[in-house]
Amino acid sequence: MKKAKSAAFAAALGLALVATGAFAQTIKIGFITSYSGLNGNLGPYMERGARLYLKEHQKELPPGVNIEFLIRDDTGPNPDKAKQLAQELIVRDKVNLLAGVIFTPNAMAIAPLATEAKVPFIIMNAGTAVITTRSPYIARLSFTLWQSCYPLGQWAAKKFKRVYTLVSDFGPGHDCEDAIVRATKESGGEVAGTVRVPLVNPDFVPYMQRVKDAKPDALAVFIPAGKTATAVLKAFGDLGLAKSGVKLIGPGDVTTDEELENMGEAALGVLTVHHYSAAATRPANQAFVAAWKRDYGANETPNFVAVGGWDGMAAIMYVVKEQKGKIDPDRTMELLKNFKDPNSPRGPISIDPATRDIVQPEYLREVRRVGGKLANVEIETLGAAVKDPWKELNKK
Ligand code: PHB
Repeated sequence: MKKAKSAAFAAALGLALVATGAFAQTIKIGFITSYSGLNGNLGPYMERGARLYLKEHQKELPPGVNIEFLIRDDTGPNPDKAKQLAQELIVRDKVNLLAGVIFTPNAMAIAPLATEAKVPFIIMNAGTAVITTRSPYIARLSFTLWQSCYPLGQWAAKKFKRVYTLVSDFGPGHDCEDAIVRATKESGGEVAGTVRVPLVNPDFVPYMQRVKDAKPDALAVFIPAGKTATAVLKAFGDLGLAKSGVKLIGPGDVTTDEELENMGEAALGVLTVHHYSAAATRPANQAFVAAWKRDYGANETPNFVAVGGWDGMAAIMYVVKEQKGKIDPDRTMELLKNFKDPNSPRGPISIDPATRDIVQPEYLREVRRVGGKLANVEIETLGAAVKDPWKELNKK
């Protein structure tokens, strides 16, 4: 009798301690992204997207479970820094999960550490196809450049006779160029030329002049989103390529939502393929954009990096809920392989269990003026559930 009483007391005490947070279980997320250096404006979009998802879904967490972000600045494309930060987060801070990363070289540098320490790594941006093959502990909730550039190349080959490509000279740029060249050739189109420009601070003018001299029907551009996109649009406009009959096309990075107003008239009519537009009229997106403006300001617009943060956080919440706050690395990866959300702001998404890469819609969009503001208007769905084409084409 005495024993039963004390057990009941202990149980009640336990409940009370959980309720007051004294026994709270904290899940630590090592969140590495870019707040400075090249396109350092992108990191805050990712962080805000992740925090907004957590805020909107906080109530779904198991009782007594908290999520803590340990935020770190990798200073742009800087693999040494990213590796050092990941090492500290794993060894010193004992994070349960790693997340974030705008830039491919940084994701590649972190991958072996995720494997060695068995820390699941949720990628919220970096888009070079090969990344997910570098560690079984990686799941990607963002995109691959092949996902946008391959359907872009197929579509462009039907519409334009000769397509020129201009890409930043690093992983995602090479992927985009390869995808467009392959799709163009497979579709019977002609590649007018290809050029790679330095990733950091390129002067686009001489490259644009070279493109203009080649007189292609379309120029497909990949550069990392952010200020670099605006610099490309400016050079394209200043050199009069549009006037000389060259259509600007690309993956959505080149008309990234948050920079449209800075791009001005030069962006009007640019055609892109991407998985996310802030202007999309899906109810899930309208709710996302409204929450964003409510919390961050009426003039603030989310972009695809923000949605990478939002959906990445949705996947993290899912594994936390399923495991009731205890993160087992291998169980986490099994759960991530089966993650789906029919209601992402971008449309229905899932993780391909074979590759741990996202499966998502790809839309053809055009920059138009909507209610006085420039917007990426979705005009056609090119694929409803696109898997990374690079992995599909290179299946053994
Ligand atoms: C990448 O490094 O993988 C990357 C960076 C910026 C983008 C897209 C991809 O806009």
